[in-house]
Amino acid sequence: MPKIHFMPIDVTVDVPEGTPILDAALDNDIQIDHNCGGNCACSTCHVIVEAGYESLDDMTEDEEDMLDEAEGLTETSRLSCQALVKTTDLTVKIPDNEVSWEDDTF
Ligand code: FES
Repeated sequence: MPKIHFMPIDVTVDVPEGTPILDAALDNDIQIDHNCGGNCACSTCHVIVEAGYESLDDMTEDEEDMLDEAEGLTETSRLSCQALVKTTDLTVKIPDNEVSWEDDTF
């Protein structure tokens, strides 16, 4: 069974093949925002796939459009509700969009 290593919380979980990354997180009490409920209609479930990105399906046009709205977009960004785990282990970084350094300063 493939594994996902979630960063920066440093937690690894076993995930049945074909599971969306979002579901793998939520099933293991790992919080990823998902304002539209996994319907590819927001960008709050954005994650950065740091290892295993090539193993994921190509993005749909809808995912690409929504992902464009995500903060901190990278070349290996995906919407976690749309990216299905295959047989390859993944390392997935959950971006921290809630806190910025300004919040700490002022
Ligand atoms: S939860 Fe809204 S696009 Fe994934």
